[in-house]
Amino acid sequence: MRKLDGKTAFVTGAAMGNGEGVARVFAEHGAHVLLVDISDRVFDTAQAIQSKGLRATGYRADVTKLDDVKKIVENAYKELGKIDILVNNAGVIQLVSFLEMSDAVRDFHFNVNINGVWNCAKAVLPYMIKKKYGKIVNLSSVTGPMVCDEGETAYATSKAAIWGFTKALAREVAKYRITVNAICPGYIYTPMVEKIAQESNPDNPRTVIEGIAGGVPLGRLGTIKEVGEVAAFLASDESSYITGTHVVIDGGSTLPETVSVGV
Ligand SMILES: NC(=O)c1ccc[n+]([C@@H]2O[C@H](COP(=O)([O-])OP(=O)(O)OC[C@H]3O[C@@H](n4cnc5c(N)ncnc54)[C@H](O)[C@@H]3O)[C@@H](O)[C@H]2O)c1
Repeated sequence: MRKLDGKTAFVTGAAMGNGEGVARVFAEHGAHVLLVDISDRVFDTAQAIQSKGLRATGYRADVTKLDDVKKIVENAYKELGKIDILVNNAGVIQLVSFLEMSDAVRDFHFNVNINGVWNCAKAVLPYMIKKKYGKIVNLSSVTGPMVCDEGETAYATSKAAIWGFTKALAREVAKYRITVNAICPGYIYTPMVEKIAQESNPDNPRTVIEGIAGGVPLGRLGTIKEVGEVAAFLASDESSYITGTHVVIDGGSTLPETVSVGV
């Protein structure tokens, strides 16, 4: 018996990065994965999972558009009879200093990282409540709730908001046997991090990645598979008594109490 056998999982931002890792790991654990992404690349990712004999369906949608998300959820429910798991993973980041940040850039973060999570939970929850069963996993971050760097005011605000949302929603839906938890990754090697490295040092992005890895006690960035496995645990019945909390997956990057002096 695999961890997610017979489960149906709705994963946002699943075309690449952490969402792709979650989708691949979930399918390997036996779930039928509904991959949702604003990028057409989602169909290639779904196809790649299917080619391994696993169950996956790709959908193109913008999580900021509630009606579009609702349509996909409705159709998936009609076809598959249930939606057991929602992984709210779609997210964006742009590094801009606070005084230079336009309201449009701020709203872009809040729309995708907060309203997108809100919309998907709104769309999926009625079906989970019907079945008195559900697992919601929200991708927050160590950035915002625990640490931060320059240029991250909008991103950090949005990711900290996900902590509050996770707790408040968990409290409200516990009576329906639905759990809601968050994952707080440190640096995971994804296209998002590649983009940050490219913007920080266009001539040599590799040195940025190496610099990040050097500051992590485990000496490397995390992988999308490792994030997928944490999500699979929180989405499985192995975590049945865990709700309204978060799991940090950061290779120990938030541990150092003093700046490293090479000891
Ligand atoms: N990579 C990290 O180090 C890291 C660390 C902490 C938290 N996270 C969080 O993990 C999640 C995924 O990050 P990632 O690094 O894989 O990013 P990524 O940019 O590599 O991938 C994000 C995916 O989300 C999709 N997406 C963006 N906007 C969307 C929208 N409006 N509707 C639907 N899909 C949309 C993109 O097309 C892309 O496929 C984000 O919520 C991010 O904040 C990442």
